[in-house]
Formats: sequence, structure tokens, C-alpha cells
Amino acid sequence: MDKILILDFGSQTTALIGRRIREAGVYAEIVAGDSPLDGAGSGGSPLDGARGIILSGSPESVYASGIAPDKRVYECGLPLLGICYGLQRMTADLGGLVSALPKWEYGGVEVRIRYPEAVPSHVKPFLEAFGGVESFTAWMSHGDTLTKLAPGFIECGTSASGFPAVLAHEFNSWFGLQFHPELTHTRFGSEILSAFVFGICGCAKSWTMEAYLDEAVDKIRRRVGDNPVLLLISGGVDSAVAGALLLRALDADSVHFMYMDTGLMRKNETSLVKRSLEQLGARHLHIVHCEDEFFTALSGISAPEDKRKIIGDLFITIQERELARLGLSASYFLAQGTLYTDLIESGKGVGNSAHLIKSHHNVGSPLVAAKRQAGRLIEPLDALYKDEARALGRLLGLDELIVGRHPFPGPGLAVRIPGEVTREKCEILREADAVFINELRKRRTADGSKSLYDDIWQAFVVLLPVRSVGVAGDARKYGWVAALRAVTSADGMSAGVYPFAPKDLIEISTLITNNVESIGRVTYDISSKPPATIEWE
Ligand code: XMP
Repeated sequence: MDKILILDFGSQTTALIGRRIREAGVYAEIVAGDSPLDGAGSGGSPLDGARGIILSGSPESVYASGIAPDKRVYECGLPLLGICYGLQRMTADLGGLVSALPKWEYGGVEVRIRYPEAVPSHVKPFLEAFGGVESFTAWMSHGDTLTKLAPGFIECGTSASGFPAVLAHEFNSWFGLQFHPELTHTRFGSEILSAFVFGICGCAKSWTMEAYLDEAVDKIRRRVGDNPVLLLISGGVDSAVAGALLLRALDADSVHFMYMDTGLMRKNETSLVKRSLEQLGARHLHIVHCEDEFFTALSGISAPEDKRKIIGDLFITIQERELARLGLSASYFLAQGTLYTDLIESGKGVGNSAHLIKSHHNVGSPLVAAKRQAGRLIEPLDALYKDEARALGRLLGLDELIVGRHPFPGPGLAVRIPGEVTREKCEILREADAVFINELRKRRTADGSKSLYDDIWQAFVVLLPVRSVGVAGDARKYGWVAALRAVTSADGMSAGVYPFAPKDLIEISTLITNNVESIGRVTYDISSKPPATIEWE
């Protein structure tokens, strides 16, 4: 399968570059910007199958702490496209100069194209992407510029202020953009990426889930051999899809599943997980009931990061204890349903400089670190976006109730109960959440084409640490306040507020207060991400 390799230097939009290319039907793989390109370590070289390389943007400067790629990127003979920092990196590495701009170029900026008189034939498809226009609007965000082009580069476009914006090399298939073609605000953005991927790199449209599945199965078999594999499952879509994939690739007797019921799960989570994995032929499912340990550890704790840390640490302690009980041979592989977006949101694994937003405990436990170091960690979904993982799950025959499920955070309901987490509050929240989700599954969109649940990217209830006064019959009621959250999103990196019809919200509110006695008031969270996050903690 043809592939475009993306070297990630930490830009928040690197994931989008990959997404756009996959939408065009070509497999795109993102690796850390300084990854060795010689195949040292496990799993071959990132260059295997690559037909072109994109160097991403970065929040850093080439002359400050910005990281540099393996020099082989310039020697491998593949077409290169530098985007923003990626272009500055190429310029600095290839003998040009990069300096600070007097003032950032930010937002929608006019780009003026300069079509050279004699266009080298390898540059033609690139310039054709601009549709013959003289200028267009592109999205920029940079504080540095090229003050001297590297030898051989031709300036094919500038910003309205005259700084280099579109570059091509006269002999090599090397290109550069000082703006972001992956953002929809950039006119011709998808045309430019397509011109690079198809016109210059000559990729075929071969990215399909069937092809991915075949490759993933093959890769898992080759890596794991006869060793046992342990997959930690959470009840979420990702680990369930990873589980289905392992069961497809390996003998069910060598696949062990461990699931911890922390008491912080959604209603009926444990039975749903059990049923769906058994349907796929799972034979070794270890369910650990550790609710008491979690509630004891969380007692009296209210700071969000403290809660996450306690939950993460306890997960690890229990995991190690229970693992020892399983008695797997030391050579076992550990599998995780990590998605690409988990890596980037944690600032781990992908770009070295992506910013830490929340600590996602499932990415970096000592067990995971040890297995990673020993080359015995498999994360078969780590190149997939959420919707792709779902498509893979469907292909594998996973229960639709699981595949179509909204994402659920590792720390579970704890991050949906601001303040102290108690067993009682979890009970209340679980009930209210079940009423909300149930209604979303029943209610249809205005055109009747799908359920509200399927139209929403993620929905849940948050139990606020606030009580308010109300009336129930003739009596005064002092009930808890619940906040409904429902967002639209493509991958959780940014999110919008779901525009409910008022009727739905009002009826759902009534159902919640009627069915969950201790809730007296319901509100709707109308914050998008950014500035808010999807979860409340
Ligand atoms: P935020 O709240 O950061 O969430 O906007 C983005 C997406 O990530 C999920 N999330 C987590 N997933 N472990 C996870 O596996 C976590 O610690 C975690 N925190 C947030 C969240 O539900 C949303 O889908």
C-alpha cells in the first residue's frame, strides 16, 4: 500500500494533515519528527512503502528548541513537502537562512502566486493546484520567515507582505508552503495536498479498511508469534476494537483480556463488554472487581489532576497484582487500544513538543513503558482516528452497541463528578447518564435520518457539586444539579456544542428529574472546545 510519511514536529494540526490525505484515499503515517529513518529498532523503517514525506509545522523555532529530522530525509530521493516549520526546517538544513519576522503572520493571509517563466516539469502538478489564480487566502501562523532560500529553491509565491510562501526546488521534488493546506480556511488546501500526493508522489488510492485489516493482522501475527497477549480493556470503543482485531489475528487461547470494574463505569458496562467479547470468541476474560479500592483511594480528593493520578496509579497497582495472578510467561505482549489522538493529546509518542493538556493515564504506565522498551507493546490502532477505528470494528463484526459508542475517558465517571467522588454520587450519575443516553438513542434528528445519539460525537451527564432548592409534590427538595454535555467533533481535538431542539432538552430534563430522585435541576453546557475541554476535568 502506498503511504505518505508525515514527520511530526509538534504542530496541533499534524493530525489533520494525515486525516486529509486519508480522506483522499491514501494511507498517511505520522511519526515523531526526529525518528530514525534507517529501520533501527523494531518494525522496519518508517520509509517502507513511503512515496513521499511531509514535514509538519511546529510551535518551536528552527534556531531554538525545534527538533531536526534524520538527515536521510534529504538523501532518500522521495518527494518532500515542508509545511510552515517543515519548510523552515528544510531551508535551515539545506543551506538557507531563517529569521524572526518583525510581526507574526497569523490568520487568513493573502498569498500571491508567481508562476515562473519556465516551469520545471516536476513542479507543474504542484502549481496547477492553484487553479491559475493570482492570489488566494491561506491560513498562516508563524513568527519566523525565510531570509535566504536554500540553494536551488524557486520562490513561486509570497504573502501579501512579501515574505516567501510557496517554494519549489528546481531539480528535486521538494516543495514548501508557509501556510497550512490542511486547514479548511486555506483555499486550494485539499487541491495542494492532492497535487503532492497524486501528481508528485504518484500514489494510488489504496487506503481502505479492508487493506488496513489485512496488514494489521499480518503485522500482529509476525510480531507476536506464539506468545500470549494481554489486552487491557476499558469498555470503550478503542480497546474493544483492538480486542476484536487480536481475536481475528491470533488463536483465542493466546489472547487474554483484563477488565477492571472500578466502580467508575457507565451503567451495565461490565455486562456489555463481557457479552460482546464472548460473541467474538474470547476465552480468557479476567474481570477484576475493585470498586472498593477505588472509592477508598478517592475519598476526600477533589483536585482533578490528583484524581487522575490516584486513579492512574491504582490502575497500575491492581494491574500488576492481578497480572501476577494470571501467571503469563514473561514473554507476553501487552496490547492497548491507543488511538493516534490519545498520543497527541498526551504530548507523548508522536511529536516531542505537543503540549500536555490532560494526563491520559492509559498512555504511559510503567508497565506500558517497560513493555515498550522490551519491544513487547502492541498498539494496533495507534495510527487510526476514532471514526476509522469504528469502521474497523464494524468490519470485524463487533456489536454495534459497542462500535457506535461514544468515547469514554479512562478515569471514567471520576472526571464527570467535580469535587469528591463517592459511590453514591457515581450511582446517581450512572442513572442520570443512562436516562440521557437512552433518550438520545430513541430520538431522531429533524430529517429522521439517524438517532440523536449517532448524530452526536459524545454525550454524557456531569454531576455538579452543587445542590439547589426545588419542589417535589408539596415538599421542598434540595437536589443535586446535573449538567448535560453533548458535542459535535471529528476526533475530539476540537468540539462544538450540539444544537438540540429545545423540546428535546426540556423533555430530557424532565425525564432525568422524574427518574433520578436526588437530581433536582438540569442544565446544558454550551461551551465549545477550545476554550473548554469536552470533559469537565
Ligand atoms: P477532553 O476533555 O480533553 O477530551 O477535551 C477529549 C477526548 O478524550 C477523552 N478523554 C480521555 N480518554 N483517558 C482517555 O482514554 C483520559 O484520561 C481522557 N480524558 C479525556 C474525552 O472523553 C474526549 O473524548
